[in-house]
Amino acid sequence: MPAGTDVESIKRLLAEHQQEHLIGFWPQLDPNHREGLLAQIRELDFPAIDEWVESLVKGRPQPPVQHDFEPARSYSPQARSTQDQHKYAQAIELGTQLISHGKAAALTVAGGQGTRLGFDGPKGNFPISPIHRKTLFRIFAETIAAVSQRYGATCPWYIMTSPLNHEQTLAIFKADNYYGLDPRNVFIFQQGTLPNFGLDGRILLAEKDQIARSPDGHGGCIRALARSGALADMNKRGIQYLTYWQVDNPLVRLFDPLFIGLHALDGAQMSSKAVIKNGPKEKVGNFCLVDGKVTVIEYSDLPDELAERHRPDGSLVFQLGSIAIHIINTDFVEHLNTAGHSLPLHRAVKKIPHIDSQGRPIEPEEPNGVKLESFIFDAIPLAQRSIILEIVRSEQFAPVKNATGEDSAEATHRMMIERAAAWLESAGVKVPRKPDRSPDCVLEIAPSFALDAEEVAAKRDQIPPINPGDDAYLA
Ligand code: UD1
Repeated sequence: MPAGTDVESIKRLLAEHQQEHLIGFWPQLDPNHREGLLAQIRELDFPAIDEWVESLVKGRPQPPVQHDFEPARSYSPQARSTQDQHKYAQAIELGTQLISHGKAAALTVAGGQGTRLGFDGPKGNFPISPIHRKTLFRIFAETIAAVSQRYGATCPWYIMTSPLNHEQTLAIFKADNYYGLDPRNVFIFQQGTLPNFGLDGRILLAEKDQIARSPDGHGGCIRALARSGALADMNKRGIQYLTYWQVDNPLVRLFDPLFIGLHALDGAQMSSKAVIKNGPKEKVGNFCLVDGKVTVIEYSDLPDELAERHRPDGSLVFQLGSIAIHIINTDFVEHLNTAGHSLPLHRAVKKIPHIDSQGRPIEPEEPNGVKLESFIFDAIPLAQRSIILEIVRSEQFAPVKNATGEDSAEATHRMMIERAAAWLESAGVKVPRKPDRSPDCVLEIAPSFALDAEEVAAKRDQIPPINPGDDAYLA
């Protein structure tokens, strides 16, 4: 809608789209609030909204799995054949070159609310390391610093936030002095938002002059990278590959030369890391081939019968789980923006605070509305080529999502200690263990000390003996 459109025509437009309640409090608003509300209404894309209401809010969304599909194939964590050994060596060499020549950058999506964790503030500020209680952001920052040093390259870091946590995230980075990184190489940008709907299709008001909105999902990073100027910044720096991950996984291996190298050798545009699922119902996306294209089907959308299907050797047929770690080419991001591809929206029925027609605040106890989000993995089938690299879970994936139980801070904590123990033992260091084989000590390896088991081995003689009950921090 053009700026300056007068109130009468806005009223007519709203009425045409059954959203006239948005200016229901008009007579009570002062000129400033009126202007603010009009600006929000002018931003709305009404033809798209009508379609969303029809198909996603009021309508029953189409069954997500509409095509024939089969399990996707992956590269295994270690090369099995001689031919693969040759290819992996070539990939590591190419990946190393690309990182060293400054062709890769880091991209974290950190715009989510983190409701399940019950932590106040951006999830990246959650303290997670076993001894020093380093936050997720600090672990990533120290890893990026260590990678930059290892490869003698600048490794810029792009972080996507949302209006829910942007200012707080900026304040945290400033207060923590960017964790020692050069602020010129840290680019914190905001994703977009989408209006929230009541189950009847009407857009909800958060205040008399405020439309209720929420972040547009991690898929929103495709647009936000372009709109925020991050993509232009990448182009200026000659960045070709983004190493993408979610803010919740402290074990992520950033700037992995094997992954970047295999992706580049195969001429892929967007690629993924996968784990072997720990059961048919693990809450991770499933890598499938739909019409020959790699596609992620969310755990909630994979029919039970398929999820439970086993091979004769007992393994799951759909065994490759998505851990939301990708390589994305910057020119693919550019292409998605310029070719006008928009990622599909998914609906989530949620409890959404709002005001009612009398202007009274409502804090619903039952889900009362719909939030819409796009998912980054829906870009994978749009890529001309895409590869999957299976990784060993205990080495690279321990997301912290919940306050207790599965994927809790306690579980992540344990896995961080277990990985440190495995790295130390592979270097020949004796790690005291309890009768149940869990480490009888607390271990933390700073990224500045080692980024992987090989680096621990190279520093073997700097490691003091570890005794039962010790807190051993290697930095
Ligand atoms: C996600 C994936 C799942 C994958 C799993 C691996 C989805 C729908 N599911 O689940 O396929 O197997 O992680 O751990 O993504 N975020 C934003 N902006 C938003 C929404 C989210 O930046 O608008 C970020 C969050 O900050 C977080 C990440 O995206 O870093 C994941 O979001 P979350 O909602 O926690 O997804 P999961 O259900 O954990």
